[in-house]
Amino acid sequence: MASIRLWVKVLAVALVSKSNQEFYDRISPIYDQCFVTHKVHASNITKILRESYKGREKDTLVLDLGCGTGLLSNILFRKGFEVLGTDISLESLRLLQQRESKINAIQADATQLPFADGSFHTVASLGAWRHFPDPQKVIAEVARILKDDGLLIVGYFPPAIGGVIHQGDSYWHQLLVRLYQFLIRKRGYVDHIDLSLEPMTVSWARDQFEQVSTVDSGEHWRLIIARGLRQA
Ligand SMILES: C[S@@+](CC[C@H](N)C(=O)[O-])C[C@H]1O[C@@H](n2cnc3c(N)ncnc32)[C@H](O)[C@@H]1O
Repeated sequence: MASIRLWVKVLAVALVSKSNQEFYDRISPIYDQCFVTHKVHASNITKILRESYKGREKDTLVLDLGCGTGLLSNILFRKGFEVLGTDISLESLRLLQQRESKINAIQADATQLPFADGSFHTVASLGAWRHFPDPQKVIAEVARILKDDGLLIVGYFPPAIGGVIHQGDSYWHQLLVRLYQFLIRKRGYVDHIDLSLEPMTVSWARDQFEQVSTVDSGEHWRLIIARGLRQA
């Protein structure tokens, strides 16, 4: 019952919000109760980072891109990584810092990151990729701010409609996707939920990185892992 009430609230907020920033600002107080399914992906991303930077955690600077209220940032921070969270929603960042003031957080749009070239060892982005208006531009920004041997992890794919309905490629699923896209475009809200986002992201990542792969994460999702910048 509690969860039905939560989802009714989320739907009501979605109906009155005119941008992703407004939506996430408004739902930030109940965000963690709603999106519990992200936990498994956060722990899978953490596992990959721990294997990649074993013994060097405290010297490894990770950008949590679209960090929200800080689920992944907190786990990585507790495992000893140096973490910076960035998000377009100021209210989400305020909650992140209320919970753990030692994690630095900066409000920024993923397509224009306020960081110098080659600043980070890793960029990890969980559940936010679907909301970036121009994900190809974000990959280019990520490549700019990563060190040459940098690592990008993007989770999770394929995104579900409203985070709940896992679509397939049947006629009815595609129709639902089109209807959802039509409704959100009218509201100025960005949510790329179509199945092409994953292969497109892999292909853009291949333009910038030497090695790109996908691994399963949880029941429905995958992570995209890209390592080592291509030299011009
Ligand atoms: C589904 S939430 C994921 C939050 C967090 N990573 C997690 O897994 O709990 C998506 C996040 O992306 C952020 N976001 C949406 N568009 C953005 C943009 N253009 N630049 C930066 N963050 C953005 C939202 O504010 C929101 O916090």
